[in-house]
Amino acid sequence: MSSRRRLLLAAIFAALGGGSAAAIATPFLCDDRRNGDKVPAFLRGVAPFPHGQILALDLAVARTMAAEAVRDAHRTVAAVDGGPVSVWLALGAGLLREPVVRPRHLKLMPSFLGDLQDPELSHGDLLVQITGTSAHQVAKNTQDLLGALPQFRVRWRVHGVRPENREEHGRGLARNPFGFTEGYGNPADYDSMAGRALVRPDQGEPTWAVGGSYQVVRIIKFADELWRQDSPREQERIIGRGRDGRWLDGTPNSERLDFAPDPHGRITPLDSHVRRAAPDRRHPPPLVRRSYNYDRGDGDRGLIFSCFQRDLAAGFEAVQKRLQGEAMAKYILTVGGGYFFVPPPGDVWLNVLFPV
Ligand code: HEM
Repeated sequence: MSSRRRLLLAAIFAALGGGSAAAIATPFLCDDRRNGDKVPAFLRGVAPFPHGQILALDLAVARTMAAEAVRDAHRTVAAVDGGPVSVWLALGAGLLREPVVRPRHLKLMPSFLGDLQDPELSHGDLLVQITGTSAHQVAKNTQDLLGALPQFRVRWRVHGVRPENREEHGRGLARNPFGFTEGYGNPADYDSMAGRALVRPDQGEPTWAVGGSYQVVRIIKFADELWRQDSPREQERIIGRGRDGRWLDGTPNSERLDFAPDPHGRITPLDSHVRRAAPDRRHPPPLVRRSYNYDRGDGDRGLIFSCFQRDLAAGFEAVQKRLQGEAMAKYILTVGGGYFFVPPPGDVWLNVLFPV
């Protein structure tokens, strides 16, 4: 670990009210699932667990009861999390009415150009994400969790899977509903993932939020029939990579391609997804993607795009704006999701936001 990173992590830990710098090394630096309880649940494992359930919940009790409800939710989630499942909760803007304590960028997810957000699939007071090795296990944990949280009602929920989920070159990869491998643009080590995802002390965020993360969820429906009408070569030019992740000039998939020798986009088109998403190869977008595929029947299939970042404007929002007008736009429709904030480990945040 670099000394800069060590100092940064120590500062985060100090801001959380913790003890020595040495103490932080364990919780934030372990990327081994065998010791998985030592990293934030949402970053655990090089590849996320292959099954996931996202529950967006609304308070079903009076606002005056919110503190107890959230405390119960935190306790319940903490009791389930660990071992073969990773579970976490994240706060929606509606739950944090007081602007002084709210993470600076936390708001209702706006409608971006081309979105058709269904209110019944969007936003929520609380997000609970349950991930695990099997669909059965995730369903069982979901049922138990909901049974323990009568103070909330389900606003929307969606089950996701990561086909061909695997670790390669230090990255978690899976095949998305368009048949393309995703995950290469993520960092290949835990330190860098944490650097992109976890709020730092110098960001002007409330102190309680340091070490937490903004989670963006986008329910993106795919027009796969339209997609299948295009040739594999055309599809690869729309994404800007081969289906297996190989770059279009043949550069191996695990390497970071420099677009400078191809200024007019003859090899990797200027409106391709990867070129719009990450045009400056020296400064990759500061976000970590950990998405799932969904299939809700009747042709309603797509991606539960999910990403984590310490700065929502520099992370998701900057990339999303660049993606407007990309070649892939006509094959996808964002129908829901939301902005949430995953609080840091421990319960300092509870005492600040939800004192009893
Ligand atoms: C419609 C659904 C989407 C599909 C099918 C898709 C697909 C892909 C694929 C195949 C890659 C290349 C492999 C990889 O690096 O993972 C990629 C990269 C990437 N995508 Fe997406 N993506 C989607 C939506 C989004 C959204 C909504 C964002 C953020 C706003 C985003 C941000 C990125 C970034 C930052 C990269 C890495 C680029 C790089 O560093 O080379 N993607 N995506």
